[in-house]
Formats: sequence, structure tokens, C-alpha cells
Amino acid sequence: MIELINVSKTFDNQVEAVKDVTLRIKPKQIFGIIGYSGAGKSTLIRLINLLEKPDQGKVIVDEVDLTTLDQKQLRQSRKKIGMIFQRFNLFRSRTVFANVRYPLEGSGLTNIEINERVNELLQLVGLSDKADSYPSQLSGGQMQRVGIARALANRPKVLLCDEATSALDPQTTQSILKLLKELNKKLDLTIVVITHQMSVVKDICDEVAIMDQGSVVEQGSILDVFYNPTYEITKQFVHSADNIDKVDEYLASKRLELAQDENLILLSYSNINTQEALIYNMIKQFDIKVNILFGNIELIGDNPIGWLVIIIGGKQQDESLAYLRANGVRVEVKHYV
Ligand SMILES: Nc1ncnc2c1ncn2[C@@H]1O[C@H](COP(=O)(O)OP(=O)(O)O)[C@@H](O)[C@H]1O
Ligand SMILES: [Mg+2]
Repeated sequence: MIELINVSKTFDNQVEAVKDVTLRIKPKQIFGIIGYSGAGKSTLIRLINLLEKPDQGKVIVDEVDLTTLDQKQLRQSRKKIGMIFQRFNLFRSRTVFANVRYPLEGSGLTNIEINERVNELLQLVGLSDKADSYPSQLSGGQMQRVGIARALANRPKVLLCDEATSALDPQTTQSILKLLKELNKKLDLTIVVITHQMSVVKDICDEVAIMDQGSVVEQGSILDVFYNPTYEITKQFVHSADNIDKVDEYLASKRLELAQDENLILLSYSNINTQEALIYNMIKQFDIKVNILFGNIELIGDNPIGWLVIIIGGKQQDESLAYLRANGVRVEVKHYV
């Protein structure tokens, strides 16, 4: 549905906001782009609807290369692409109804058709009872629902979301993400979600790209990327809510020293058979001492990914780790005597 091919954008001849990015986003996908502030995410998403013109590269949406279009054709093509924003960007002096109506004005529909469409859109986002309210009378979540209704007015195939939940509290964020997921299914909508929040990607995205300093440094299915993060920034995002990467710091701060025969091990697993009592078996079968330091389980889509930092001691450590590996657990030795 969306193809960016070797796209670059430099501002003022010096700030390379987007560097040679190539991305393919399949129809009906929810595709996440995650990165820290300044990584180039907003520029990248604005390149998708050509609000920013690339210095080089192709931007293909629904089989049309937008970089080849004149202004009039571009306006037409943009109707296939809706967009929502962190600050909602509503008209403060217009009612909810009039905000959603705005993109339909001059569309060739009759007044009756427009009104029908607006009512349908308000129903879709659960705001039928707020048609006559003004933005100032709404909560953040309701304002974003208006933003979504307005973005969908022209029945786009693609919805671009630039930090759409970043101004919302966690509970409201959840309700907006749930709505996006519903719309994705119900309307076969392709959704691109830009965020600096790991939880957003984890909850709704099928695929993800990680951006750092203008480049896409890693991309793939969320399970692959988050289970096998290779890039440092990706690891930071994956472990942003736990202490898994802080083991060395922790050991140092606690002045915790490993005994002669003790080793520090990071275990991780995804989707393994949880029926089998692996740790119990390991202890019993190989007479191993296990001390659990940290643990964390994340649900990535429907798949659990678990991490466990343990100290093990005993004579048959090699055998016990081989047993875990044979059962699909990834074993990463942090310190081994
Ligand atoms: N219109 C602009 N003019 C000049 N520099 C810009 C402009 N837009 C973005 N930048 C710069 O490009 C870089 C990437 O910004 P942006 O795409 O907004 O990142 P993000 O959305 O990931 O925070 C930043 O260094 C930013 O200052
Ligand atoms: Mg941004």
C-alpha cells in the first residue's frame, strides 16, 4: 500500500532529517515507526502524503508515485490518505459536527449526503451525542475521536497517526488504540503509527521500524524485532519498562559478587511450551542452584516474550543450560567463570 524507496529529506541544506529510507507497508497492516524525539519520524510520515517533498527517492501510495504528480493530482491522491496529530488540530470555533464536515465541503456531495456521512462518522468513533459540542468542551480522547472521524471523512485507504496518543493518559490511550484496531479491521484501513512509546507499538502494530538519526535501523514483525533486537536503540525500547539491561549496574550498586562457581545468565523465550516446568526440572535434574534477580513478561500482540536474569551455581551448569536451550529457551551468558 505504501512504498518509500531511498527517500531522503534535508532541511536548510544541513539537517538530514530522513536519510535514504526504504520501507514497504502492506495493505491492511498497522505499521509502527518508533524512535526518540528528533529521529525524523514526523518528517518521514509527512513524506508519505508529500506534505514534505523528498529531495530524492520515490513515494508510492496505492500504486501511484506521488512525486510525479502535479498539484491537482496530488490533492486528489491525498484524499486516500487521512492524518491525525498529537494536538488534534481541530477548529476551536467549529462544533464537532462542523469539524468532521469540513473535509466534505466542496466534495460534490449534496448537503443531505454530507450530513448523513458526518452522522455515520460520528457513530463510527462513538461521538454521536457530541455533535453540537465545541472542542473546548471535550476531553483529549474525545478530541482525538473527532480527529479520527474527520480524517476518515473521504474514505481513505491509509491513516497516518503522528504521536496520536502522546498527549493522552494511559487509559485513554488504550481506548484510542482499541478504536484504531477496530477501524483497521472494519474498514480494511492501512494504518501508520508514529510513536516514541513502546506500549503503543506492542499493543496494536503488526510490523515495526525503528528510526535513529534519520535512518531506519531495524524493521520486521514486532515479534521478530522485539525478541531479537540487534540495534542498541531497539534494545532500549524493548527494555524501557523493565530492568533487564541494568543487571551489571545492579550488581555493581549492590556490590554483589558472584561466587567461584556462580554464573549470571539471561534467559529469554517466546511462545515456548509453558506446560513444562523448565526451571523446576533444571534444578531437580541437574542439582542446580537458581537465584532469580529480575524477570519480565511482555505480551507482543498475542505472543508472550519473557526475560529472566538468574544466577546459577552447581556442578552441571553446562548440562542444565543445554537442557534449557533444547527446550527453546535462549540462553545468554552474562558472566561465566
Ligand atoms: N521544517 C523544518 N525545518 C528545519 N528542520 C526541521 C524541520 N522539521 C524537522 N526538522 C528537523 O529534522 C529533525 C527530525 O525532526 P522530526 O521529523 O520532527 O523528528 P521526530 O518527529 O522524530 O521528533 C530534527 O532535527 C528537526 O529539528
Ligand atoms: Mg515528531
